Amino acid sequence: MSPTELASRYEQVRETLESHNQQHVLTFYEELDDAGKAALLDQIDAQDWAALADLVQQYVVREPDIKLPASIEPAPYYPAEPTAELKTKYDEARALGEQMIRDGKVAAFTVAGGQGTRLGWDGPKGTFPASPIENKTLFQLFAESIIKVRTKYDADVRWYIMTSPINDAPTRAFFAEHDNFGLPAEAVTFFPQGTVPSFSTDGGALLADKGTLATNPDGHGGSLLALFKSGAIDDMASRGVEQISYFQVDNPLVRCVDPLFIGLHALDGAEMSSKMVQKANAAEKVGVFADVDGKISVIEYSDLPDELANATNADGSLKFNGGSIAIHVIALNFVRKLNAGAFGLPWHRAIKKVPHVDLATGAAVEPGAPNAVKLETFVFDALPLCEKSIVLETIRADEFGPIKNAEGSDSAATSKALQTDRAARWLESRGCRVARDASGNVEAAIEISPLTAVEPTDLDNDSVPQRVNPGERVSL
Ligand code: UTP
Repeated sequence: MSPTELASRYEQVRETLESHNQQHVLTFYEELDDAGKAALLDQIDAQDWAALADLVQQYVVREPDIKLPASIEPAPYYPAEPTAELKTKYDEARALGEQMIRDGKVAAFTVAGGQGTRLGWDGPKGTFPASPIENKTLFQLFAESIIKVRTKYDADVRWYIMTSPINDAPTRAFFAEHDNFGLPAEAVTFFPQGTVPSFSTDGGALLADKGTLATNPDGHGGSLLALFKSGAIDDMASRGVEQISYFQVDNPLVRCVDPLFIGLHALDGAEMSSKMVQKANAAEKVGVFADVDGKISVIEYSDLPDELANATNADGSLKFNGGSIAIHVIALNFVRKLNAGAFGLPWHRAIKKVPHVDLATGAAVEPGAPNAVKLETFVFDALPLCEKSIVLETIRADEFGPIKNAEGSDSAATSKALQTDRAARWLESRGCRVARDASGNVEAAIEISPLTAVEPTDLDNDSVPQRVNPGERVSL
């Protein structure tokens, strides 16, 4: 670009920024070389500053008003164990789900674009060693689950992974380095999600360095846009995929592709469905499933009034008992339908630590405490947009052991204990005696590779030991 072109572009960009009070992002413009100047102008031009100005007013400079809907009731759900009337339906659903997998109609989908700030791991979260004995990474565990499903059903199950522009290259490199953990290269597809500028709490866009806006991934809700924009949906459609099995990168216990869940969702003609677990207690910080004005929705724990969170049924159980664990089946056509219209999920604000450049001195600031607003959308906010949505209960200990934090609750340590406990129960269900202490804690380390089993019935009797003794390390 010639110096005159650059100068005229600069003027246009400056005017736009000034009309939204964001001209400070050009503070260091004159210090940049021509390529740096053009790159900054490109990045600024790619944003919709008028729309961002609305977002800043609604979500950044103040906490948005929570409008409670007129009617909130607990969402109906399919129980983990079918009642007598549901038994036949569950059998039919499982058979349908298995057939859909065999027919290549189901793809696995991991959202892995988050920044994992709480875990503080240097690298994409999926590269975190998560299993109790073999230290397999989260990505390897999911890859092995998908390989198992491919072999079990002799099916071409594809795996789509949403990254962010920040972790896309290291994620791809990690898979290349490990030969896709045994999956054929054509079975794994990566695509990055969108980003949005990060703001200081007074509404000013932050600079990551003198020539770059600070941005953050646009939340897991961004997956519904990115699936479409990246061409992943067209790619899936060309392979005959109809349903997307959605899960997060941080839950090593997840059943990546669950025939029963997929089958129930398909039998009921649902557009997007969810798994739930019973809430551990009224104060547990998870979103709850509710029927809001006739639509299945997830209400964030912070938005659920105390009287509803604490409400109980006649038998003393929690009225709003369905905790959301971020496992969904999404119909490909639903993603298409959303993207065909003017579709926008609501934004949520999170106050986080965002490194940035000090405008007065030009120095890099590494904040010690949360200093900025990140805007994100949440995938479950698409549920009320469905014509039909179902919820299936799953047993927490079977399917939920997330790694969110470096220590304490939801850490690698708690997740490994849950993985061991589930492996022990699977072995016990096949007649093995596992050493447990008086409180029922497993006194050994046990790991069952997903290549061996993704459900207890996959275990073959010959490989199940008769007993696991205290202190033993058993890896199957
Ligand atoms: P979390 O809400 O736990 O966020 O993401 P996070 O970014 O991973 O971690 P913190 O909050 O910074 O500690 C739940 C799931 O959604 C994905 C994450 O990768 C994880 O699988 N996610 C989150 C995205 O794919 N994109 C996003 O923008 C945010």
